[in-house]
Amino acid sequence: MSFSRSIKIAPSILAADFANFGAECRAVEDQGADWVHVDVMDGHFVPNITFGPATCAAIRPHIRGVMDVHLMIAPVDPYIEGFAKAGADIITAHVEAGPHIFRTLQAIRASGAKAGLAINPGTGLDGVENLLDMIDLVCVMTVNPGFGGQAFIDMTGKVRALRALIGARPIHVEIDGGITPDTAPVMARAGADVLVAGSAVFKGGSVIDPAPYGTNIRAIRQAAEAAIGVVV
Ligand code: DX5
Ligand code: ZN
Repeated sequence: MSFSRSIKIAPSILAADFANFGAECRAVEDQGADWVHVDVMDGHFVPNITFGPATCAAIRPHIRGVMDVHLMIAPVDPYIEGFAKAGADIITAHVEAGPHIFRTLQAIRASGAKAGLAINPGTGLDGVENLLDMIDLVCVMTVNPGFGGQAFIDMTGKVRALRALIGARPIHVEIDGGITPDTAPVMARAGADVLVAGSAVFKGGSVIDPAPYGTNIRAIRQAAEAAIGVVV
């Protein structure tokens, strides 16, 4: 995984057909996705349940690129090894998920995965400065975690402040929730480089008609790139 700040679109399979994850992952990558975002929920940290390491291991062979695993679970530490063994390239844990985020991030890096730190809308950037040398990604939530298809919560100020804090360090700024061609530009301008999108990517398509996925991915990418002046 080489580092770049170019815009990356990461479809969230939370909005995919749960009976067809393998084919859905192949379809979004064929249609131009950069990363595949995998939302793990436990019905405890968030009020919804998705799946665990076994499902991640099963879909891994269907993803050519980056498998970006977003853990919305508490506790995190007992499951890190399982998600690393399942083939996660990035494992992201929430700062709100426990009292020892420093230990959690150390354990993620020790597992061989890249370490991500997720921050809920109600959480500020206090303490992030102390973690900058041990993270590869910060995920700024732009919805309350737990469900797809929710309305975007504007976190422009937080993303801008985070981007300034990161400076030249090779740390991705990811935004997650409510991303569409309308909301992507303001986030890209504020400094986000990884745009997670579930509903806005999967709407209108299916594994037997995946072309709309490509149209949707291109629309988000073009809106974001135009906002930061990328010439295509
Ligand atoms: C929310 C998840 C998101 C979600 C995004 O808890 O972390 O990844 O799937 O879905 P949309 O793009 O539909 O808001
Ligand atoms: Zn997510």
